[in-house]
Amino acid sequence: MQTNWWQKEVFYQIYPASFKDANNDGVGDLQGIIQMLPKLKQLGITTIWLSPIYQSPMVDNGYDISDYQAIDPRFGSMADFDQLMAVSKQLGLKVILDLVINHTSDQHAWFQSAIKSSKSPYRDFYIIRRGRDGNPPNNWRSNFGKGSSWTLLPGSQDEYYHHVFSKQQPDLNWENPELRQRLYQMINWWLAKGVAGFRIDAITFIKKDQDFAAITPDGVDGLGKVKRKAENRPGIEKFLTELNDATFKPANAVTVGEASGVGYEQLGQFIGKKGYFSMIFDFHYADIDIASGSEWYRRINWTPTDLRHAIFKSQMAIQKVGWGANFFENHDQPRSINKYIQAPAYRNAIGAKALALLYFNLRGCPFIYQGQELGVTNVHRESISAFNDLSSHDNYDRAIEEGYSKEAALEFVNARSRDNARLPYPWDNSINHGFNSGAKPWIALDQQHTNVNWQSEQLDSNSAWHFYQAMIKLRQSSNLSHDLIEGDFQPLTSSCEQVIAYQRGHHVQVYVNLSEKQLNLTLPNGKLRLNNYEHYQKNTLKPYQAILFEVNSNE
Ligand code: NOJ
Repeated sequence: MQTNWWQKEVFYQIYPASFKDANNDGVGDLQGIIQMLPKLKQLGITTIWLSPIYQSPMVDNGYDISDYQAIDPRFGSMADFDQLMAVSKQLGLKVILDLVINHTSDQHAWFQSAIKSSKSPYRDFYIIRRGRDGNPPNNWRSNFGKGSSWTLLPGSQDEYYHHVFSKQQPDLNWENPELRQRLYQMINWWLAKGVAGFRIDAITFIKKDQDFAAITPDGVDGLGKVKRKAENRPGIEKFLTELNDATFKPANAVTVGEASGVGYEQLGQFIGKKGYFSMIFDFHYADIDIASGSEWYRRINWTPTDLRHAIFKSQMAIQKVGWGANFFENHDQPRSINKYIQAPAYRNAIGAKALALLYFNLRGCPFIYQGQELGVTNVHRESISAFNDLSSHDNYDRAIEEGYSKEAALEFVNARSRDNARLPYPWDNSINHGFNSGAKPWIALDQQHTNVNWQSEQLDSNSAWHFYQAMIKLRQSSNLSHDLIEGDFQPLTSSCEQVIAYQRGHHVQVYVNLSEKQLNLTLPNGKLRLNNYEHYQKNTLKPYQAILFEVNSNE
């Protein structure tokens, strides 16, 4: 396989509101990021992905954009952005942005114009339909888990606009060629500013079935999931091809599609040689604990064997046609330690490192979400009012609607809330964990001070942070780089159900015990290159022990 420049990258996702608050107003900002770039460089990552920094009313924390070509003042100015680009360049770091083009904010000038007059040229930039007998045009349920995906157009009695997500995020009408051109111009404007590419939000939702027909309800609310009529629907290929040809392809940009709903048999179209994107995120094992990515109350009991099958299936399917984007965390997921480490006693550095070894060395580009490299865990909340994230509230209400008790609903939300990943980054043990110098953070902060913070982990050579640093170095610049970057993925069978093991290229074997049992099994006679315990006893894996062996050294 020919190597593209982006296959070598190690991505690090920054959630700007929660990374570093340089001006101490409670919200993280671009100057804060600039300050901390050298620390990311020291970790070894090569590309940063910024969650949205555009002007936004922040109903969905920036995934509701009111001006695509302005920086939200909470984060800084365009001059700050230019400075961030310049400093990144000096450090040899690339920057990708989050591209949210399925919808805008309801405060976007296009939508504001569209609702003012039915003659507005922007009216057709959105999806507006007449209701049926005083009800919305159909029974599609919003993707955030609760309520119709239609809302009455302000000032109208019978016209509704469509929104896959919240009602403050009206969907754009991709059927309109003028709208598409305007989006491409905007994308090219950012590319000309030097961004290396984009993570592309909710991109499989841009095509809706044009019959706008009702569907069989799948809940007591009489509604059905909007994704059944609006996610990866026939006809999307035309939009995605055009988008790529008009923007990413000529710029040789890297693109990572948030492309839910793509079956493995379709991967070639999406990430093959002539695919729409460089990579897409595969959510199959991110959502191993819930029956559907958007319904937190349908929980699933899974085993290490299930996870092994899911990871292997994904790797084998992707390997056939293209390149993967490997992740265990992002701003929509709970912390991976809580999700994948089933024994609470190991939700510590041991667990953090075991998971790191497991996912980071898969074939594809690794994505690290801020705090993951420290081993940050979820924070338990005692009441629904303590949650900030709007989908947490929607999912709580839906669980109750489906007959669960308030206590059960709260536990579903605690396990899955997006707030888990969105707390301020713990830099040190000072006030607000060093996120700022004392102003109340935009999201209530866990008051507990622990050693899981950047400063403490610098001083501890056994910390999760140091493990990540060593692991990145092994991938990027060691005798194993070729195997770890370009090497094929090969599943390894082990005699133990609880072990996930695989080989990369000719010289790397990874073994991860995903249980709290000590296991005896046959392990290779290779050289130990990474180990999340201080010691290794031949043919033994301690609870949650994870080891990377160098094998076949004389080949
Ligand atoms: C996916 C994003 O990752 C999520 O945070 C957001 O709420 C939705 N798309 C809507 O933009």
